[in-house]
Amino acid sequence: MGSNLARNLARHGHRVAVHNRSASRTKLLIEQHGHEGDFVPAETAEELVASLQKPRQIIIMVKAGAPTDAVIDELTPLLDEGDMVIDGGNAHYADTRRREAALREKGLHFVGAGISGGEEGALNGPSIMPGGSKESYSHLGPVLESIAANVDGTPCCVHVGPDGAGHFVKMVHNGIEYADMQLIAEAYDLLLRAGGKTPAEIADVFREWNEGDLESYLIEITAEVLSHVDATSGKALVEVIADEAEQKGTGRWTVQEALELGVPVTGIAEAVFARSLSGRVDQRKAVRDAFGAAEVSKTVTDGLVDDVRQALYASKVVAYAQGFDQMRAASKEYGWDLDLGAMATIWRGGCIIRARFLDRIREAYDGSPELASLLVDDYFREAVQNAEAAWRRVVVGAVQAGVPVPGFVSALAYYDGLRSERLPAALIQGLRDFFGAHTYRRTDAEGSFHTLWSGDRSQVEA
Ligand code: 6PG
Repeated sequence: MGSNLARNLARHGHRVAVHNRSASRTKLLIEQHGHEGDFVPAETAEELVASLQKPRQIIIMVKAGAPTDAVIDELTPLLDEGDMVIDGGNAHYADTRRREAALREKGLHFVGAGISGGEEGALNGPSIMPGGSKESYSHLGPVLESIAANVDGTPCCVHVGPDGAGHFVKMVHNGIEYADMQLIAEAYDLLLRAGGKTPAEIADVFREWNEGDLESYLIEITAEVLSHVDATSGKALVEVIADEAEQKGTGRWTVQEALELGVPVTGIAEAVFARSLSGRVDQRKAVRDAFGAAEVSKTVTDGLVDDVRQALYASKVVAYAQGFDQMRAASKEYGWDLDLGAMATIWRGGCIIRARFLDRIREAYDGSPELASLLVDDYFREAVQNAEAAWRRVVVGAVQAGVPVPGFVSALAYYDGLRSERLPAALIQGLRDFFGAHTYRRTDAEGSFHTLWSGDRSQVEA
């Protein structure tokens, strides 16, 4: 990804000094792509720093965690006041906050920049989410915006906010990416197991869906993956890939942070847990052996494909609504002043979750920055209302057929939870008060109360 970013910069007319721990990789880049622009190979960190104009702008693309700290430690003694160090990896935002504070003490700018789009995006235009100081963005903005993806003349790059804001937003992007992929996988599973379709037929369904409201990069590549035939077995490749989804950690971080902030990101959490469940191969086998493999009953109906499309769309709206809620909560907590409409804007192109409906999300938050939930925006309210009956049919049908759809189910439960006039949380409060005198509030009076459960059961004010 680092070399592709360097090439992208060079192709846009920027002079790029390149350095890698192993000099042979730098050499290879120059040999293969030197003709694409103005590259300056540097064998050592000292050479790299000496070759740059001040204030220097150095982008680090190494593994998150200790390797990033090691590179920062190597570079900082060589830098001068006002220089900028940009971390383009998937760092944890708390590490970015720590590093930013430490480098600020030294008069340096540290910019945690989320970069999405994979290797191809890095080369041809990623979505870039830089945090750090406004001052650093005044230097870096024009450079980063020149290499970012561009939608309708607007670059997919904006100054997200101070310190770790950029990496936080990238983390939530990845969390939504997990939820999005889980929902797509559930839709596939339903059409395969309950619908009796082949991967190639399902690929065609996704291709068609990509013409409508669901149009997005992930739907597009789902059709590609599903229609790919494995040369060795002659089967659809998806049928021979081991069904254990791996994860590097950004989805898990999103859920951990959501727990801290008290924001229900149930779609992302289910997606993380579904990956964990898939990886518990021995346990899966033990339960399969004990109960017999789940027998899925075919529930093919004429409307199944379109019902699944609508359930997918509604659940996807919920996943995005939850992710945007989380960004707003973090913005409040850390004083980042995030512009949610701008976040939707820079996700319209370049990144993995780019999708047609991000334009609508942008309009929703631009129109009402304090929107209580994406679900209450007129456009999305109508879309979810229209999908609701199909969404329920899919959830009921999947449960009856025996196809696990944790993403669809939890999204629907979230929607129903938010819509309920009264929630059973009242009973939970009663139970807490019973066993621990934790008190409760009443709907008809101010204050906190406790019932003397082991006494005469009268109520006292707490
Ligand atoms: C992106 C991707 C990128 C990477 C994920 C994969 O925005 O370009 O999100 O960051 O592909 O980290 O994450 P998992 O390995 O955890 O699925």
